[in-house]
Amino acid sequence: MAEPTRRCELPLSVWPTAQQTSRTQRTGRYLPESTAHPARMLPATARRAIEAYTAPGEVVLDPMCGIGTTLVEAIHLGRQAVGVEYEPRWADLARANLIDAETGGAAGDWQVHTGDARSLHHLIDTALAGRVALVLTSPPYGSSLHGQVRARPGQGVAKADCAYSADRANLAHVGTDKLLAGFTDILAACVPLLRPGGIVAVTARPWRSRGALVDLPSAVFAAGEAAGLLPYERLVALLVGLRGDTLVPRASFFALDQVRKARRRGCPLRVIAHEDVLVLRKPSKHMGSGGSKELRREPGCRASTSVVAP
Ligand SMILES: C[S@@+](CC[C@H](N)C(=O)[O-])C[C@H]1O[C@@H](n2cnc3c(N)ncnc32)[C@H](O)[C@@H]1O
Repeated sequence: MAEPTRRCELPLSVWPTAQQTSRTQRTGRYLPESTAHPARMLPATARRAIEAYTAPGEVVLDPMCGIGTTLVEAIHLGRQAVGVEYEPRWADLARANLIDAETGGAAGDWQVHTGDARSLHHLIDTALAGRVALVLTSPPYGSSLHGQVRARPGQGVAKADCAYSADRANLAHVGTDKLLAGFTDILAACVPLLRPGGIVAVTARPWRSRGALVDLPSAVFAAGEAAGLLPYERLVALLVGLRGDTLVPRASFFALDQVRKARRRGCPLRVIAHEDVLVLRKPSKHMGSGGSKELRREPGCRASTSVVAP
């Protein structure tokens, strides 16, 4: 009888990225004012993606870097980090988080540019062309799920920190069609910077707009393909904790409130327990434009038999 495969030898498509709360993951690692950003990636998700798709010394790019989660985790892991953020407020905070991480011993180099990532070629040093191993990012979406709860005596509960800015040109504020067109342009601008075979990993979750499902994860794959990338993997990053066979809910006040209200209206919504990690790849030189089947070797594995790019 064949020896059973040891658990640690195979990569999992479900990442347990919320074993600790978001607050615990950030405490002492990010400046406290980072909580003002309405939609940050979980640090564990960024770490997992960076470890899966890059090696120390390689370049990681986040073209919509917010307060710099991708970049901070990248330099802690000894990668070089490059970020772009449209809003000066968040770009400054990303720089401050990176300086703080350096002070704490993070070793990687970094740069953060303020501007519109659709014009990446105007913002980023051309010497990076063909050198980026991983683009790891998350588009802005679904404002109803974001923000902080502030309870004031006698005034009830108020929502705070639920907007990226007041700038109507921020892709967070332009509506789903324009957001996806802008996101496609950003991915297309990343392609010349990626090395052949380089990876693009995007975290996204579905949300509801006036009751209708907006299937952002599927739209992200479509945007990537329109930008010249090939679908590669679709993974699950948990937003709930795992304790044995029990899920530990970590939903925000607003996520719970939205689901409760929908259920009272007779719409059987469920609390979202994960986000998708949509992974695409720049064609390698030998793959041709249509992509081809190839066997992939996972870091740390002797042999992986995942077949990609049908
Ligand atoms: C979901 S947030 C990213 C958060 C980030 N992953 C973090 O953990 O802090 C998306 C970011 O994209 C930025 N953004 C919107 N339009 C942009 C554009 N055209 N170019 C660059 N950044 C943009 C928003 O200001 C927002 O900070």
